[in-house]
Amino acid sequence: MKYNLSEINEIIRNRRTIYPEQFSLRKVPKEIINALLENARWAPNHGLTQPWFFKIFYGEGIKKFIQFHSASLTDKFDSQKFEKLKQRAEKTSAIIAICMKRKPAEKFPEIEDVESVACAVQNMFLTATAYGLAFYWGTGGLTYTPEMQNFLGLREKDKCLGLIFLGYPAVEWPKGQRRPVEYYSEWVE
Ligand SMILES: Cc1cc2nc3c(=O)[nH]c(=O)nc-3n(C[C@H](O)[C@H](O)[C@H](O)COP(=O)(O)O)c2cc1C
Repeated sequence: MKYNLSEINEIIRNRRTIYPEQFSLRKVPKEIINALLENARWAPNHGLTQPWFFKIFYGEGIKKFIQFHSASLTDKFDSQKFEKLKQRAEKTSAIIAICMKRKPAEKFPEIEDVESVACAVQNMFLTATAYGLAFYWGTGGLTYTPEMQNFLGLREKDKCLGLIFLGYPAVEWPKGQRRPVEYYSEWVE
């Protein structure tokens, strides 16, 4: 065995979504967020497109993120949803926009870039779990809208794939639930 498998098993299996309502007010230092970003880039990606891009709203940046939302209220994103976001932001150390940036050549299908970004996010989540952080990947609100695209400075072919809310947990570590392996695998021999 090359690495300590029991620790990696524990980190993978104990990685849990913890919602911002369950965050404490303790702030995650920038150095730790940088450690998550550092591990993101080691994700597999087809043709070394390295399609991930993260925009980190931190400190005053979170206020800017909220201001953008307050200016973008519509029927679909209404004041009730805005209030919920505002409350969540109060306990959040950083809101990280998960983005996929396409290379102009578009040599590989878009789905492969999306897959790579998801792998990069998992690297961040596993690292965050090792630090005992709380995080949540949300795709509601304005995530997939042209307004968000514009706000993040993304080009037409790029995509916002969600928002990570990051903090420290104020609750007991949640228990996970998954179906056993025989439900999602089939051997052919
Ligand atoms: C691509 C993606 C989008 C998600 N979007 C949301 C969301 O909009 N709202 C939400 O409550 N959870 C969202 N989640 C988190 C899932 O609800 C969560 O991962 C799931 O409940 C399993 O829990 P676990 O992460 O603790 O294993 C998302 C997760 C992924 C991977």
